Amino acid sequence: MTGTSAGVSIGDKSIELPTRSGTIGPDVIDIGTLYKQTGAFTYDPGFTSTASCESKITYIDGDEGVLLHRGYPIEQLAEHGDFLEACYLLLYGELPTKAQKDDFDYRVTHHTMVHEQMTKFFTGFRRDAHPMAVVCGVVGALSAFYHDSTDITDPHQRMVASLRMIAKMPTIAAMAYKYHVGQPFVYPKNDLDYASNFLRMCFAVPCEEYVPNPVLSRAMDRIFILHADHEQNASTSTVRLAGSSGANPFACIAAGIACLWGPAHGGANEAALNMLAEIGTADRIPEYVARAKDKNDPFRLMGFGHRVYKHYDPRARIMQKTTHEVLSELGIKDDPMLEVALELERIALTDDYFIEKKLYPNIDFYSGITLKALGFPTTMFTVLFALARTVGWIAQWNEMIEDPEQRIGRPRQLYTGAPQRDYVPLSKR
Ligand code: SDX
Repeated sequence: MTGTSAGVSIGDKSIELPTRSGTIGPDVIDIGTLYKQTGAFTYDPGFTSTASCESKITYIDGDEGVLLHRGYPIEQLAEHGDFLEACYLLLYGELPTKAQKDDFDYRVTHHTMVHEQMTKFFTGFRRDAHPMAVVCGVVGALSAFYHDSTDITDPHQRMVASLRMIAKMPTIAAMAYKYHVGQPFVYPKNDLDYASNFLRMCFAVPCEEYVPNPVLSRAMDRIFILHADHEQNASTSTVRLAGSSGANPFACIAAGIACLWGPAHGGANEAALNMLAEIGTADRIPEYVARAKDKNDPFRLMGFGHRVYKHYDPRARIMQKTTHEVLSELGIKDDPMLEVALELERIALTDDYFIEKKLYPNIDFYSGITLKALGFPTTMFTVLFALARTVGWIAQWNEMIEDPEQRIGRPRQLYTGAPQRDYVPLSKR
């Protein structure tokens, strides 16, 4: 619909605002001149009807349950590719040739170590600190160690910082886990693929050889692909807003990690597993479903619902399949949590409340069961989400920096506070 316009009448003013069409998806009304022409702002807390930017990276059709990365369906990327291929695609916009993939894999692999001085940084935290608090702090400190890739106006430095983030997040996440469990840090090994390297850094101990399990490594790699990017979600929007001020990439990613931690966002995988544990057995599900429907009860079914998906989250389907693969490989026949999850899903998908509100399982509903089976404590679940989403944040951050329309993000407000009034001296109050 580019070239048409939208009429707005407010008070005695009537104006026409230009509209723009994307490749696919909803058109937008460009309101950039609305305030100048009418003196009024738009009002959209939570940004339910607001496009914050133009992007070519990821597209979601929430009604159809479609997720595309640079046009490729998530199902195909998860089935046929690996996480570093998805990283290349998100960063550069095209699937890599064999030579490009080998070069990218080599460059990432050879940036997986962190500055040795960073090991001292961890010792400042209590051992029982939540790994997300540790990762958020350590990533924020990266600009103190890698100051040579913080000039955001230099495309070369931006790409160096991007590669460093993708390469070092597994190492930092594994170090946070090792510190949490009181085991020695494990250095990356360059002859292992990305997911196997990460699992080894988490679960290897000096006392015995660690032999990667290809089924579990493939599952971990697929979980990373499923979490890589997701349009302008809360944490990505946080990274873009932080980046719009010119902050260095490490600080922006740390801001994204902080936002992701919330239970309404990336913290939902930890919250969902804790919820399944609290429910315990299938016979208690009706009690919790009733609570989720009770307006006076703040309880929500964690891992259900989504701002955009009003259909099944396509990632949740792949996640469920991966869950079964991992449990089968580990010989876990009847995981009580999986039983509760499957029954809870069955009940919720047939309940009028969830049908009417279009509440379906999202990616966080099954991921926790899989991550627990892989050996991770619930406190590490959101760290793994942050590890995978780092490439999405970095790709979106680069796109924002290179966007000629990009300016510092500075929303306005609807002010409902006190009108101007004079100061009252203390003696007269
Ligand atoms: C992620 O944005 C992304 O793309 C995020 C993400 C990504 O990859 O980046 O996909 C990752 O964050 C997935 C979402 C994980 N969060 C959860 O699973 C937490 C539980 N879900 C909810 O908190 C909620 O569904 C949200 C936060 C996900 C979405 O919230 P919205 O879009 O603001 O919707 P809402 O809260 O206004 O809910 C609409 C209605 C409400 O009822 P009414 O006020 O209209 O009567 O549905 C109800 C809600 O009460 N509702 C739920 C519910 N989720 C929404 N009721 C019970 N249980 C739920 N889980």
